Amino acid sequence: MKKVYIKTFGCQMNDYDSAKIKALLGEDGYVATASPDDADLILVNTCSVREKPEHKLRSFIGEVRHHRERGARIGIAGCMAQHAGASLFKRYRKDVDLVFGPDHVPNVRELVQRTETERVLENSFLDNAAFAFVQETHSDGKVGAFVTIQKGCDNKCTFCIVPMTRGTEVSRPSAQILDEVRALVDQGVAEVTLIGQNVNSYGLKTDEKTFAELLYAVAELPGVERIRYTTSHPRDMGPDVVQAYRDLPQLTSHLHLPVQSGSDRMLKRMKRFYTRERYLEVVSDLRSARPGLSLTTDIIVGFPGETDADFDETMTLLEEVGFDGSFSFKYSPRPGTPALRLSDEPVLDRVAGERLKVFQKRQQELTLVSNKRDEGRVFDVLVEGPSRWDDDVMCGRTGTFKMVNFPGTADLIGTTVAVEITRGFTNTLRGELA
Ligand code: 5AD
Ligand code: SF4
Repeated sequence: MKKVYIKTFGCQMNDYDSAKIKALLGEDGYVATASPDDADLILVNTCSVREKPEHKLRSFIGEVRHHRERGARIGIAGCMAQHAGASLFKRYRKDVDLVFGPDHVPNVRELVQRTETERVLENSFLDNAAFAFVQETHSDGKVGAFVTIQKGCDNKCTFCIVPMTRGTEVSRPSAQILDEVRALVDQGVAEVTLIGQNVNSYGLKTDEKTFAELLYAVAELPGVERIRYTTSHPRDMGPDVVQAYRDLPQLTSHLHLPVQSGSDRMLKRMKRFYTRERYLEVVSDLRSARPGLSLTTDIIVGFPGETDADFDETMTLLEEVGFDGSFSFKYSPRPGTPALRLSDEPVLDRVAGERLKVFQKRQQELTLVSNKRDEGRVFDVLVEGPSRWDDDVMCGRTGTFKMVNFPGTADLIGTTVAVEITRGFTNTLRGELA
């Protein structure tokens, strides 16, 4: 029996690719192991969206390189492998046997076999027509599962490296998506999350269903209790998707809608193709379609040219929308991105750091307010499993995607139960079966 260890950095796309790699290698007799120490194959699935994950790659290789001496193979996958594959292949010539980009995940079995006799580098983009989505129907007994509906991205947000690492957009045929969802439901999955870099533009460039039509089709499948999706672009948030929030109770009451900045000047420099006003309009439409909708977002501070006034606009947008949560980042210049040309107006690192702190502090307060507001209310909670520290406490999520801990037994796992919220904290809710 051969063992594979995979360390995954980055977004849900990478999580999904890692799961696919495990499933495919499983066909060659590999089982997943939780430690590199007993692995025959050690893979790291990398992210290059910001600087930090790139540093993490270096320390990871440093930690595992000695396993090669006992015959283990080591490989680098993911976004860094895609855009910096050749240089990684060279830099780690003594440490790494295999470097492959996301397009080559479907061929991972063959790539690994080739490492028996040679070092392997595969980071070309496949033709869009040749790109094959892997049918992945191993739910691993989980209550929720990801389903890829699209790969790549045709947007050109000036800060973002993803178009360079994941290539242009390809929509997966809807028949395949629906088949995969059906198979997952048969294995007991109750919640599906449709994933892609820009899901709302699904199908627009082909004669496939639109994203909204896909949502309705998934909702029609028996057994699909909850539908989520990520990530969506505010520009492509059309009235048909808003309408789906009226029509489809399966669509959960949470949306991650990255705004990046509250300043029109910055949005323009980022080439986001919407204004602050338009974003607020979308939010208001969504909230009338689905009262109680919880909203989260992504924010970048310190984008080149961002003044105190621009940052203030981000802060006032945070107040106006009252985001339930957010991920916020200091701008990090990425190789090959158009924003490098704007670097004549860099924001001092110290200034960006201060802005990040101010933003995150206020967001934490607002998240707590949002969670306190839930006290006394009853939510449908899809039970995911026992809490990490106590088997008599179950955890699960509300439709608003908040984590709830409540006293309960393991037989509730996979079911939806009514839970009354007794306490709201910054990161979680506590409740009791209602
Ligand atoms: N610098 C900082 N944050 C970035 N993001 C993407 N690229 C960069 C960058 N160069 C953030 C965006 C995006 C999230 C996934 O990561 O906010 O929505
Ligand atoms: Fe995901 Fe983007 Fe990071 Fe790639 S670069 S892993 S697509 S977040």
